[in-house]
Amino acid sequence: MTARLFVNASQVVTCAGPARARRGEELRDANVLTRTAVAVEGERIALVAGDEEVRRRFPDAELVDCARGILLPGLVDSHTHAIFGRPRFEEQEMRSAGLDYMDIARRGGGIHASVRDLRERTEDDLVALALPRLERLARYGTTTVEVKSGYGLTVEDELKSLRAIQRLSALLPLRLVPTFLGAHEIPLEARGTPEGRADYVHLIVNEMIPRVVEGGLARFADVFCEPGVFTIDESRTVLAAARAAGLRLKLHADELRPSGGAELAAALGATSADHLAAISDAGIRALASSETVATLLPGTMLFLGKERHAPARALIDGGAAVALATDFNPGTSPTPNFPLILALAVSQLRMSVSEAVIAATVNGAAALDLAHETGQLAAGFSADIALFDVDDVREIPYWYGDRRCRATWVQGRPCVG
Ligand code: NIG
Ligand code: FE
Repeated sequence: MTARLFVNASQVVTCAGPARARRGEELRDANVLTRTAVAVEGERIALVAGDEEVRRRFPDAELVDCARGILLPGLVDSHTHAIFGRPRFEEQEMRSAGLDYMDIARRGGGIHASVRDLRERTEDDLVALALPRLERLARYGTTTVEVKSGYGLTVEDELKSLRAIQRLSALLPLRLVPTFLGAHEIPLEARGTPEGRADYVHLIVNEMIPRVVEGGLARFADVFCEPGVFTIDESRTVLAAARAAGLRLKLHADELRPSGGAELAAALGATSADHLAAISDAGIRALASSETVATLLPGTMLFLGKERHAPARALIDGGAAVALATDFNPGTSPTPNFPLILALAVSQLRMSVSEAVIAATVNGAAALDLAHETGQLAAGFSADIALFDVDDVREIPYWYGDRRCRATWVQGRPCVG
C-alpha cells in the first residue's frame, strides 16, 4: 500500500496523548509542532514526526502539499439534530420581539413545529434534506458528526429518522454517530394529562428503545431533561431502560434552568451531559468527579439571545472534561460552522485556544466513546484530518465566521476539497 505524506504544513496540531477525555493540565497544550509531517497508510495514521524522518521512512510515498496551511485532527461534532424538515427562521424574529424559547414551544412552535413537519415527510425526503446540510458541516473541518433523531416522537417517525441517518452514513464520507432522542419533547397529543405523559414515557421504554436496538439504529440514547420538558424522574426512567438495552447515554441537562440534570448524567455514568448553561455548583462537582464529558454549546446561547453561557471556567478549573459542539438544529443553533463555536469558546467562555481545540477534537471524540479512534493526529488513529488555510492555530478562533478549512480526509479518504 502506498503511503501518503502530508508535508509542508506550517503547523501540525496533533492533540496527541492519552486516548480518553482530557482535563485540567492536560488541556494546556494541544501539541503544536512545526517542520512536521504526517504519514497515512490506508485508513490509519502511520507516523507523525519530523519532516525528514517521515520522508526517509516512506521514500516512495505520494506527497500531499499542505502549502503552509495547518493540519489538525478532523473536528468531532458530538451534538447535532441534523435530521429535520424545514428550517424555523420565523422564530428568530419572534424571539427578537420578546418571546422566549419556551413561550414559543408552549404555543406549539419550537420542537413541536419541527415534529409536525417531519411526520409528513418520507425517509427519502429526510435523506435529501440532510445530505447537503451535513456536507456544509464537513466544509468547516468536521469529520465526525453525532446526529440525533427526536423530531418524530412516534415509533415510526423516530425509526424513519434513524434509518435516514443510517442511509446518510453510507452516502457520505463523514463518520456519523446515531443517537435516539425519542425523549426530545412530550408530543402535543400526549401533553395535558398526567396519563398522557406517562404513556409517552412508557412508549419510549417499551416500544421505541427495543425497536431501535433491534434494528441496530443508534449507539446512544438522549433525553431533553429540563423543567417543562422531561423531569428528572422521567429522564432517569428512559435512560435506565436505554442502558439496560445496551445503548450508551447522553443527556440534555440544565440548559435553561438548573434541575439536577448534570448530577443525573454523572450518577448514571452517561458518556456526556450537554448544554449546562444553568448548571449548579453541585452539578459542576458531580461532573468533575465523574467520567461524564461536559459538552458545551455556546452557539445555542448566542442564537437564543441569552446572556448566560455555560460556566466553562468553573467546569475546567473544577476538573471536568469539557467538549464543544455546534448543536446544529433548526430552532436554536442553525450554524454548520464549528470553528465559529471555537471562537465563542475563547471569547465568551474564556477558554484558551488549546482548551478549545482539544474540546473540539479529543474530548468531542470522548463524548462519543470514540477517543481510541479519532480526535488526534497520532500513529494508529483513524486518518481523520483537517487542513486549514492559516499559519497559526490561534487564527482558527480568530477569523470568526470565516471558512478557512481547505480540505478534510476521513479514514484517509478525501472528504472535502
Ligand atoms: O439542543 N434543547 C433541546 N433541543 C435542541 C433544540 C431543538 C429545537 O429547538 O428544535 C437543542 O437546543
Ligand atoms: Fe440539542
